[in-house]
Amino acid sequence: MKDIVWIKTHHHALAPFNNFRRKVDTKPTQLFKNRKGAMYIHVPFCLQNCRFCILYKEYPTLPYEHYVSAILRELRKFRSFKVEVLYFGGGTPTLLPTQEFKRILNFIYENSNKPIEISVESTINEFNKDKAEILASFGINRISFGVQSFNDKMRAILGRWNKEKEVIKKLELAKEYFEVVSVDLLYNTPYENILLDDVKKAIKVGVDGISIYPLVYNKAMNSYPHPSVEENERDFLEAYNYLLEHGYRHLSINHFSNGKDEFHYSKYFTRLEKPLLGIGPGAGGHVENHSIFHPHHTRHYIKSPYTPITFLLSEELYKGEKIISKLFEGEISIKKAEITNFASSISLALERKWIEIKRNRLILTPRGLFWANTLAHLMTLDFLRLYFSSLSQNMLSKNKK
Ligand SMILES: C[S@@+](CC[C@H](N)C(=O)[O-])C[C@H]1O[C@@H](n2cnc3c(N)ncnc32)[C@H](O)[C@@H]1O
Ligand code: SF4
Repeated sequence: MKDIVWIKTHHHALAPFNNFRRKVDTKPTQLFKNRKGAMYIHVPFCLQNCRFCILYKEYPTLPYEHYVSAILRELRKFRSFKVEVLYFGGGTPTLLPTQEFKRILNFIYENSNKPIEISVESTINEFNKDKAEILASFGINRISFGVQSFNDKMRAILGRWNKEKEVIKKLELAKEYFEVVSVDLLYNTPYENILLDDVKKAIKVGVDGISIYPLVYNKAMNSYPHPSVEENERDFLEAYNYLLEHGYRHLSINHFSNGKDEFHYSKYFTRLEKPLLGIGPGAGGHVENHSIFHPHHTRHYIKSPYTPITFLLSEELYKGEKIISKLFEGEISIKKAEITNFASSISLALERKWIEIKRNRLILTPRGLFWANTLAHLMTLDFLRLYFSSLSQNMLSKNKK
């Protein structure tokens, strides 16, 4: 497998498309006007800076109510957007005082029907009985914890100082209040994988959803030895089989559910035709081939909350991005004619047993789930190569005429 680089995230997988997005003047309010879809609200605050974390976050230096007032100012601009599914991500959303959640939720409830799923991300630290009771009473029905690992030694390496016992206690508490409890677990961890052990513990606690991500190494973690790609593949498949044997199925390439966690929000990532409105600094979103991005930094956001930048991808390239994004669900419907756009990546995937093709369905095998971001990246390169070579051929033949 030495010849192929293992791609670990969907951002990286689809990154080549970003070279062809063009900044346009279209106002995000116009894009989202009278539409319905998912809303993502970014709460970028963390009290700790976990050594391994690659996400955008800030230490809170201003009163949270100032931040939430800015969020509300932005939400008012998108009043006609109906929220089907709501996700508070971070950072650590549960750092917000509960009355601040109430301000946001009241606004959304007044303007939309109640969303079918309202998720909140939390650390184990920033979660307690009082918060659980109040947040659940506001209608939040899904909570997702960044557990990373239950193992005390691994937690210490990752910069998590609370112990396994406390993690389990908090998850049990969460189960009393929320319809759906989900956890994030990491593999490709320093020294070795303990993924199977962690998956067993998560299942024993009875969580409904389990997300499994390979650790992406940043500067702070780079000096640690970590498992080879072959070891990671083996350990992922071992965990996959255990999940399957215990009634969990994949909803996307890295999220497993016991059937109770429908994780509706994830569909707005994999199906680009479904609008996703990001609110808050660092938040992104899309409506078909338009995407929006908010600049980082809370101080800037509080001064001027409504400054997302709009980008456009051409209709032709969007067709490719849409097909490839669907792969993150684990399978895509693809017409024979479209397969030719991805000929070399699909034949490699068949050869390596990453996929099976049944009628018009291209289905990832368990091994393919592990390699999905890599396959998506190869499909992206295939698609762009073919698109630009046919474009240049057209231009050449026009010039000849
Ligand atoms: C916003 S955090 C989850 C909520 C909360 N902040 C926490 O950490 O408990 C989202 C998830 O991104 C994943 N993540 C962060 N840094 C990562 C990295 N370097 N590589 C892979 N996944 C990472 C972690 O699994 C983390 O739980
Ligand atoms: S709490 Fe979560 S978002 Fe914050 S630094 Fe740690 S992993 Fe990153």
